[in-house]
Amino acid sequence: MSNDWSGVPTPSVVVGELLKKASPTPHIIVFANEKGGVGKTTLALHSCTALCHSGAKVLVIDLDNRQRSLTTSLEMREATARILKVGLPTPKFAALDKQSGNLLVQEIQRLGNGVNFVVIDLPGADAATARFALAMADTIVTPVGSSVYDLNVLARFNPATREFSAAGHFAALIAELRNAKAQAGLRSPDWIILKNRSRGGERRLGELVSVSLDEVASAIGCRIGTGLPESISFRDLNGYGLTYLDLGLIPSIGRRNYKIEKTIRDVVRQYNLPDFERQIPKNSGEERTKQNQRERAAVPQKSTRAYHEALSSHRSPRILENK
Ligand SMILES: Nc1ncnc2c1ncn2[C@@H]1O[C@H](COP(=O)(O)OP(=O)(O)O)[C@@H](O)[C@H]1O
Ligand SMILES: [Mg+2]
Repeated sequence: MSNDWSGVPTPSVVVGELLKKASPTPHIIVFANEKGGVGKTTLALHSCTALCHSGAKVLVIDLDNRQRSLTTSLEMREATARILKVGLPTPKFAALDKQSGNLLVQEIQRLGNGVNFVVIDLPGADAATARFALAMADTIVTPVGSSVYDLNVLARFNPATREFSAAGHFAALIAELRNAKAQAGLRSPDWIILKNRSRGGERRLGELVSVSLDEVASAIGCRIGTGLPESISFRDLNGYGLTYLDLGLIPSIGRRNYKIEKTIRDVVRQYNLPDFERQIPKNSGEERTKQNQRERAAVPQKSTRAYHEALSSHRSPRILENK
């Protein structure tokens, strides 16, 4: 049988299809969690930006056809760069028009030439194309929030004892994909779960989750890492397609914060990507504050204001382009 009850191809069918199309691809990082609102797209934006700032060439594929949040952010990023006349390191990006594993493979082959990393943002639901992306992944990054509900996709617990009782549906899917890949002689992806959006006020729940997460990690075969802290300013910047890593280039948009820049790079470091460390300039960081302040591009206040005005009267950068 090729499909499971929901009409989505089974992991062994997905891996079999991929084998037929086998060709070398760049390192593929997939941001995945069948739960929505956990920070996949936000982390994908920060990660692809960090990789671009480190000098890597990156292709982003947005598989969340309905929301297209990452595509919108990257369109805004291009508009920001154009309007402020500043060279923002930006990935190539594409969104698939229809759900198709074939199309995903084709797009990576078509656009991935000369690229070091492919970053794929998944919707918060199981779908055929999402399974293809997960099967192609070298690294899977799964953010989870400080909520026991977030854990249900990964694991089921005895509510009284809080002991692990079974893998959750997303973890079971990853396990099946890993099995199918192992049978086909393919390497298993590295899977990292990030405790995301940590907040001081949620300490007790955070502790509860972290105890459970350690248990879950050994049961389902993943690593545990730390994601981004909860911060409203991420959202403000992300609206412009920007992250804190860009503020060194656009000082008039917001104050540079070296601690947050380091936090973002530290998140990406945990992925253990080939060559990422080598690509981060040795002299990046606090010690270069003064020199950076002298070097950073001075964007005239006038263009920042013009950008804000343009944004307030137009929704899409495509509309800006046509003006
Ligand atoms: N670290 C963070 N701090 C504050 N808000 C965040 C953070 N990460 C995500 N958000 C917000 O949470 C919402 C869901 O995040 P998003 O990245 O779209 O999740 P997903 O892609 O998993 O659905 C968005 O409104 C986003 O701006
Ligand atoms: Mg998303």
